[in-house]
Amino acid sequence: MSRIAYVNGRFVAKTDAVVHIEDRGYQFADAGYEVWALFGGKLSDPEGHFARLERSLGELRIPMPMSRKALTVVLKETVRRNRVSEGLVYLQVSRGVAPRDHAFPAADTPPAIVITVSRVDREASEARARKGVAVVTTPENRWGRCDIKTVGLLPNAMAKQKAREVGAVEAWFVDDLGLVTEGASSNAWIVDRDGALRTRDTNANILRGVTRLSLLDVARQAGLKVEERPFTPQEALDAQEAFITGAGTLVLPVVLMDGKPIGSGKPGPVAARLRALYIEHAKATAV
Ligand code: PDD
Repeated sequence: MSRIAYVNGRFVAKTDAVVHIEDRGYQFADAGYEVWALFGGKLSDPEGHFARLERSLGELRIPMPMSRKALTVVLKETVRRNRVSEGLVYLQVSRGVAPRDHAFPAADTPPAIVITVSRVDREASEARARKGVAVVTTPENRWGRCDIKTVGLLPNAMAKQKAREVGAVEAWFVDDLGLVTEGASSNAWIVDRDGALRTRDTNANILRGVTRLSLLDVARQAGLKVEERPFTPQEALDAQEAFITGAGTLVLPVVLMDGKPIGSGKPGPVAARLRALYIEHAKATAV
């Protein structure tokens, strides 16, 4: 069990880890966050996640609570204290604690930091990848700044619940143009009928997934044809393969959409290859 959390400068037992009722993250979802996959207790794709954290907080006008270097030390120490080798580390930075008022508090209000660590059973996730998972589609109903990684995740939570209630693992948002944006907690990909790898471009209202960005590189290096171009749910059903990417799922084949099979209805070779290549990359970049 992972039992230690970092809360505002202190390592505390998770059972005693609490935040103030006037933390703006709690009252206004006024917080940014990041999630790193852990391989061998190390943070994978560190550059991408730190860069996105700095960008998210910058867009929210929340100061970085400490330098990247200091944050790395604290993240790693939280991981070490939990004795987790394979898992995830979660960091949340809110605008801090202040009497409830929608507008920002005084500029010297310190940001509030929470770090937690969870374990992942890699064997179970490999088994899941060998089997593939189901997704459901759902109308896009999020705000216009999904490029910022904030804890304002209610539409994502509701979409995920919709998926879970029918035995699916992810929900794919579909926008007003009838195009898939992304998953509730992952980016969406297909291997289209022409064999090209396709995922939505980042001009759209999506999170710029770190796994997505690394995988684009990995796929190009592997000689695959890659297109940052949207697809419709019908194109997904007609595709050879589909999969999702994220720090939690890595590269996970999708075999059913709204109860209908994608491709052969089984995980395909491209996703399997990309999963192996991505894990290699994640391990190689981990610090
Ligand atoms: N989710 N899109 C959304 C909406 C996400 O929440 C995530 C990640 C991704 C994939 O991003 P990355 O490859 O950087 O993990 C895409 C994390 C894992 C979460 O909320 O737990």
